[in-house]
Amino acid sequence: MHAGQLQLLHDVTFSIQRGERVGLIGESGSGKSLTALAVMGLLAEGLEASGRVHLAGQGRELVSASEGAMSHIRGNDMAMVFQEPMTALNPTMRVGRQVAEVMTHHGTADRRTARRRAVELLEHVGLPDPAAVARSYPHQLSGGQRQRVVAAIALANDPLLLICDEPTTALDVTVQALVLDLIVTGVEERDAALLFITHDLAVVATVCERVLVMYGGRIVEAGPVTEVLGNPQHRYTQGLVAASDLEGVRKGEGVREGEGVRQGEGVQDREARAPLATIRGNVPPAGRFPEGCVFRNRCDFATAECETLPPWTPRGTHDAGERASGYACFHPVGGESDG
Ligand SMILES: Nc1ncnc2c1ncn2[C@@H]1O[C@H](COP(=O)(O)OP(=O)(O)OP(=O)(O)O)[C@@H](O)[C@H]1O
Ligand code: SF4
Ligand SMILES: [Mg+2]
Repeated sequence: MHAGQLQLLHDVTFSIQRGERVGLIGESGSGKSLTALAVMGLLAEGLEASGRVHLAGQGRELVSASEGAMSHIRGNDMAMVFQEPMTALNPTMRVGRQVAEVMTHHGTADRRTARRRAVELLEHVGLPDPAAVARSYPHQLSGGQRQRVVAAIALANDPLLLICDEPTTALDVTVQALVLDLIVTGVEERDAALLFITHDLAVVATVCERVLVMYGGRIVEAGPVTEVLGNPQHRYTQGLVAASDLEGVRKGEGVREGEGVRQGEGVQDREARAPLATIRGNVPPAGRFPEGCVFRNRCDFATAECETLPPWTPRGTHDAGERASGYACFHPVGGESDG
């Protein structure tokens, strides 16, 4: 994906099966939102996607689809929930009508049915007194209630793919759990695919079965959540896990002091609430990532070899073609340098 001469995403290859919940993690500025927006055909002006996006079962290629075709697909076959619910809601329209309009707009229900289904959906996402909520304007609802309305809108036409970009970051912890639960239940009931973007590894571990780790506009590691977070191979993933507050997922032997990640404490200390480790340095601005391995300037394991692009190494016997599970690192955690 390009912004003028600048390439922001590189060779982002992944697939999500029906009924599968896949997380997308990485530090701020890694390219997570751009990936989602490229799939949805919602890139800002000046940005251009290249490559292919196929929506399951339909065999249709979406990058080359017209805006008209995409606006039909959006909200119908695929839907997205953003971090800030107000951006998705019309402040001047009653909530029930907004939910109903997604159905009438896409022709999935006539006006009367849509209005009835809107109230049912609002009830289904756990809103108390859904008829009253339907008559409300967005500003009359709390942040958590608004995000549930957005989820109801996203699920209204039974999408094949739901993309959530930090959907609960703006909510407090108890409301967060409720919204996560309704998203998971919503996609499960529809056997839909979920792409879930978050910076919170604990949330990924709860919501997702598989995870993609993104850095510098590239997917650097992918695989089942338990393997990637429990036994990371890429040095960047290792750093993310060490910097997270994941209890039980992180293995003490995975990260040693002075290795790749600055770490002022051991696992014992962690239990005594010592400060978390951090990855040294900062995420460079777009276009300033090093050649070769994008993580090279922050990695303590970098060698001359890392000045070339690390190839994708499949993990175990998983499908290498679709990059379902593997990593791109010359000196992985389980490799010789750890021995
Ligand atoms: N329209 C644009 N033109 C140029 N660069 C852009 C544009 N949009 C995003 N970028 C850059 O692309 C990089 C990736 O942005 P993106 O929004 O995908 O990050 P992210 O992983 O979603 O981060 P966060 O966790 O902060 O949401 C950033 O460096 C960002 O500044
Ligand atoms: S390829 Fe090299 S620089 Fe990149 S993460 Fe692996 S060891 Fe570090
Ligand atoms: Mg983002």
